[in-house]
Amino acid sequence: MTDSQLAIGVDIGGTGIKGALVNLTTGELVSERFKIPTPEDGEPEAIAHTVLEIVNQLPEEAEGKPLGICFPAIVKNGKTHSAANVSKRWINFEAEKLFTQTLGRRIRFINDADAAGFAEVKYGAARDTQGAIIVTTLGTGIGSAFIYNGVLIPNFELGHLPYQGESYEKFAANSVREREELEYPVWAERLQLFYSELEFLFSPDLFLVGGGVSKSHEKFLPLLKLKAPIIPAALRNNAGIMGAAALAA
Ligand code: BGC
Repeated sequence: MTDSQLAIGVDIGGTGIKGALVNLTTGELVSERFKIPTPEDGEPEAIAHTVLEIVNQLPEEAEGKPLGICFPAIVKNGKTHSAANVSKRWINFEAEKLFTQTLGRRIRFINDADAAGFAEVKYGAARDTQGAIIVTTLGTGIGSAFIYNGVLIPNFELGHLPYQGESYEKFAANSVREREELEYPVWAERLQLFYSELEFLFSPDLFLVGGGVSKSHEKFLPLLKLKAPIIPAALRNNAGIMGAAALAA
């Protein structure tokens, strides 16, 4: 393997920050996956230092490799523009600048669902599908990625489409299922409304569903009636790391 085929991916989530060195040809992690709990206040400086701790643990071959970091916010030109489930300080925040300074190297900041979605299309469950693919991640919030013929169109934020004066995220995320103790068929009725709206608006060729709950996909995906196929993600926990690495390179 030549060195140019390696990059580092770091995935910042609400509970943990994880990172690894990635083989860009196959998407495989070629180092151990390092994970540290997300600092409680979720402030940018504390998170940047945690990312530094992770990068410092990577093996020597990681030295000088492209570094992609994904995060749950709208990211444009290195700045974060939203903060749905994180500290409000991330709104209009020069994230790439802070991380570049803290880490002492160039980095690329990416939306978390964009990274996971891109990875599923490049290495995972949507590898062989052309056309329009919508990847959604069902977790604390609802993340989304739109990929057309392999090209990522960033910051789709479909979970923030309005629903009854709020957003679909507040109505149908997996955290809502847990909080309201919804049975899977009841939750699936909510998901049906969400995915039907997405299908009407975008006519995708494929829906792909990620997030931790996708490991229980047989409990809710078969209940959804859509024209396009809807399938579970394949890469699960590592999708963010792989996609961040791939998009940084
Ligand atoms: C954020 C998205 C993010 C998603 C999943 C949403 O609340 O607005 O940017 O991708 O959560 O983490």
